[in-house]
Amino acid sequence: MDKLVIEGGKPLSGTIVIQGAKNAALPILAASMLVEGKVTIDHVPKLLDIDVMLNILRELGCRAEHEDETVTLDTSSLHSSHIPEALMRQMRSSIFLMGPLLARFGEVTIYQPGGCAIGERKIDLHLSGLRALGAQVDEEDSRIVCYAKRLKGAEIHLDFPSVGATENIMMAAVLAEGLTTISNAAREPEIQDLQHFLNSMGAKIFGAGTDTITIEGVEKLTPCRYQVIPDRIVTGTVMVAAAATRGQVTLLNTCPSHLTSLIHVLRRTGVQITVDDDIIKVGTAARPKAVDRIVTSPYPAFPTDLQSQIMVLLALADGVSVMKETIFEGRFKHVDELSRMGADIRVDLNSAFIRGVSRLYGATVEATDLRAGAALVIAGLAAQGKTVVEQVHHIDRGYDRIETMLGRLGARITRYSPVPNNQIVP
Ligand code: UD1
Repeated sequence: MDKLVIEGGKPLSGTIVIQGAKNAALPILAASMLVEGKVTIDHVPKLLDIDVMLNILRELGCRAEHEDETVTLDTSSLHSSHIPEALMRQMRSSIFLMGPLLARFGEVTIYQPGGCAIGERKIDLHLSGLRALGAQVDEEDSRIVCYAKRLKGAEIHLDFPSVGATENIMMAAVLAEGLTTISNAAREPEIQDLQHFLNSMGAKIFGAGTDTITIEGVEKLTPCRYQVIPDRIVTGTVMVAAAATRGQVTLLNTCPSHLTSLIHVLRRTGVQITVDDDIIKVGTAARPKAVDRIVTSPYPAFPTDLQSQIMVLLALADGVSVMKETIFEGRFKHVDELSRMGADIRVDLNSAFIRGVSRLYGATVEATDLRAGAALVIAGLAAQGKTVVEQVHHIDRGYDRIETMLGRLGARITRYSPVPNNQIVP
């Protein structure tokens, strides 16, 4: 497994361009299966999760290439709607294929994606949404088979605004007969991006970005070329890294309006942020101030995907901060690792009490999941001495060569990969 070795204590400085959004690209790739023909998606980041999705699409008969940041798909030869269990288990987001494959083939076989490091992650809302659209859903052990000759529009209320369930139902309803309404829908920017993509192919979807989405079913879609939005979580990660190292960083290709809650929190810590069109500048030279209470909640509230990263900044702040995690039950795994670096954090149920320390110290730590891994990289950059981050494959799921991106900002960070004879080489 690859490791990142970080020599900390150097403020980040410089300018970088932000990658396209993983969480927008994944459902868009899945939604491409709704159309027959060639689809081109630009600004798709080179990530492990994207590779897994493309491999699943190839397994189903789709032709898929990823060159530079452009994915070209030819879905004409798609012949299967059975996602093998082994591939399903590699990535939870394979669940996104359920709606599109059911709509296109009239049946789909998937397997329970299972829980993951950050929580149980049920799919009941996905399944009840498809049932409401008229699908017969048979569950046998971990296998789930759905049938529907043609889905029928329905009024669907989500008990919780799940991002994935909202997207799956939207994709399934595009080719359904009649009108579908999703109430208490998730409002994340990636859902708006999915709406824009599907409408570019001729779908009739309105309201993404609000809590009510309506989908007027159409008979057929036409292929298109589309560009994915900037990744707000990668943007936020680098903003926090700039603040934690007390640096000055300029980020290009961002969407500042997607980061209002983070910008608000960072300003409360004393970090200076200026926004101009798609450019964000972040800078500070002072020790951050604590923030009394941050609560992660569905968009537009503070995102769970930036909880672990901002905790590193709060671990270095002057005073006590409180972080409450309401989305995923297992999302404090980074706390133990940060404690090994000198952080003073106590967890009680779903709240973390963070007493800021003046300094973190380098240590060998383990990335337990994607965003926890990103947090440890930030901690390593801010810490005194050398940090080794293990299990880097988690980070590669969501950051396109994080060491290259941060290296452009002057970070001293090197990847070491094992080679067959057990030597470790950069
Ligand atoms: C998406 C994002 C992920 C982010 C999360 C919350 C992608 C690829 N991933 O994940 O990065 O952290 O949103 O912003 O876009 N739930 C149920 N039943 C369901 C579905 C969800 O109980 O059928 C629960 C989950 O267990 C979790 C909560 O709802 O506690 C939020 O999950 P959801 O919004 O669905 O997140 P994902 O779409 O999996």
